[in-house]
Amino acid sequence: MNYLPDYQCDVLIIGSGAAGLSLALNLSEKCNVIVLSKSNLNEGSTKYAQGGVAAVFDESDSIESHVKDTLIAGAGLCDEEAVTFTAANAKRCMEWLISTGVPFDQEEDESGEPKFHLTREGGHSHRRILHAADATGKAIQKTLTARVKEHPNIQLLERFNAVDLIKAKRNAIAGAYVWNRNTEKVESIQSRFVVLATGGASKVYQYTSNPDIASGDGIAMAWRAGCRVANMEFNQFHPTCLFHPDARNFLITEALRGEGAYLCHADGSRFMHKFDERLELAPRDIVARAIDFEMKRLGVDCLYLDISHKPAEFIIKHFPNIYKKCRKLGIDITKNPIPIVPAAHYSCGGVITDLNAKTDLDNVYAIGEVAYTGLHGANRMASNSLLECIVFADAAAKAITNALHQSPEQVLIKPWDESQVVDSDEAVVIQHNWHELRLFMWDYVGIVRTDKRLERALRRIMLLQQEIHEYYANFRVSNNYLELRNLTTVAELIVRCALQRKESRGLHYNLDWPEQHENPSPTILQPGNLPEQVY
Ligand code: FAD
Ligand code: SIN
Repeated sequence: MNYLPDYQCDVLIIGSGAAGLSLALNLSEKCNVIVLSKSNLNEGSTKYAQGGVAAVFDESDSIESHVKDTLIAGAGLCDEEAVTFTAANAKRCMEWLISTGVPFDQEEDESGEPKFHLTREGGHSHRRILHAADATGKAIQKTLTARVKEHPNIQLLERFNAVDLIKAKRNAIAGAYVWNRNTEKVESIQSRFVVLATGGASKVYQYTSNPDIASGDGIAMAWRAGCRVANMEFNQFHPTCLFHPDARNFLITEALRGEGAYLCHADGSRFMHKFDERLELAPRDIVARAIDFEMKRLGVDCLYLDISHKPAEFIIKHFPNIYKKCRKLGIDITKNPIPIVPAAHYSCGGVITDLNAKTDLDNVYAIGEVAYTGLHGANRMASNSLLECIVFADAAAKAITNALHQSPEQVLIKPWDESQVVDSDEAVVIQHNWHELRLFMWDYVGIVRTDKRLERALRRIMLLQQEIHEYYANFRVSNNYLELRNLTTVAELIVRCALQRKESRGLHYNLDWPEQHENPSPTILQPGNLPEQVY
């Protein structure tokens, strides 16, 4: 008898952040869609985004200027076609997002007409960041969630972890196995197209601005299914996360620096002039490295970001959430500097896609932070990420809509086989390995690297992989286990890429290779083709 999958749809979208929900809305009139979310629908990096979304809305600004700034921030490694494609489609895609109801801040122009308030961030030569105060991501997530909930063609499955893509014949995928956290059973979803919209992998580091879901699941699943990945060595560290024992991963938006905040030591003295003439508005890699350098030089736990020279009314109006959050923790940002440290923030590398968001597999797409489109090069410019989510969701929707006309292949899928496994009696191993991985990634594969540290990290990763493999063969899956398995794969990909790059560029800084090559290229890894060498 044929096995019937638990769910069926035209398009399975794995992830419910800005990328996944935008795509679901764009496709909803053309086909039926399932959206998976491994936690609740709103939990992902999107919800925590503060600064905003970059797009050319000001008449004195231009697409060419957005392209130029992105290329400069990307330190010679951006794909110019992807950058131009994104910047050129930015305004149209943002107008679509605005039409869904996202309440971006407005102000009056000289003639009293409303226009969008545009803020500024590092690397941008113009004011071009649309924002909703200092909680832009929350406004986007809330609006998109409300829209998808209204739509009958969109089925939302919350607390469902995608475990692996199900291989079909040739170069295609038949759907995904998913672990239903509500019933603790692995179920199957059959679909004609699968879209990875699973976000980034910064949870691989001990200190991060990211929520727990950012465990690189999409990258690891795509890799296991046969997709190439690129530029995994470029993990972005945000220069300014709050340093406070009760708020480890709270971000202090770059827009503070855009509006005049400066970085300083405990005695109030500034230091960015020693590192870059753009001072606090230099691209993120430079600012994060400067802070790391000063912290190590002085042996201090944090440095400071000070905006208290601006009027209190201005600060509270533009940064109400940061003001409130800090106030709760006993810091009045209108009077005192904010203690900050850098933390892992964004994965610039990911699953390779073309400008239609298509991966190496025929019916698999990747959008948002999980993808490598070539936009960010060696260092993402602030507020280009949410933009990439919206622009590539639009591109994927068009490509999938075109492909829907082809007649579907009949594929039989097998049920998940649990006959050889039992419940784990060793959950502590997972917990321990999880902490170990994130700590040595922070220590050995952080802002400043050396070959020796990278090799040390790789040796440990290989050991962890062996243990994880044994665990997988014997025990039923759990959320922590699935995330650890994916994080360990992603950690290996980061370290392998970092070891291949024999230069320092953008976010990858290796003391053994401080120079830059003249003609750099992206680091591309192919499944089944990793070096045997373990060091
Ligand atoms: P996410 O929003 O992270 O969503 C991922 C989704 O995938 C979630 O729904 C999750 O449940 C789901 N998922 C993951 N794995 C699985 C699985 N195995 N099974 C099922 N579901 C899964 N960028 C900007 O451009 N501007 C900003 O101002 C900005 N500020 C930021 C501030 C913070 C604190 C952070 C963390 C990031 C910020 N970024 C910003 C980056 C930006 O927010 C993210 O890159 C972007 O939101 C990613 O969107 P996404 O849709 O790709 O993924
Ligand atoms: C921030 O608000 O500083 C984050 C912006 C970004 O990551 O693009």
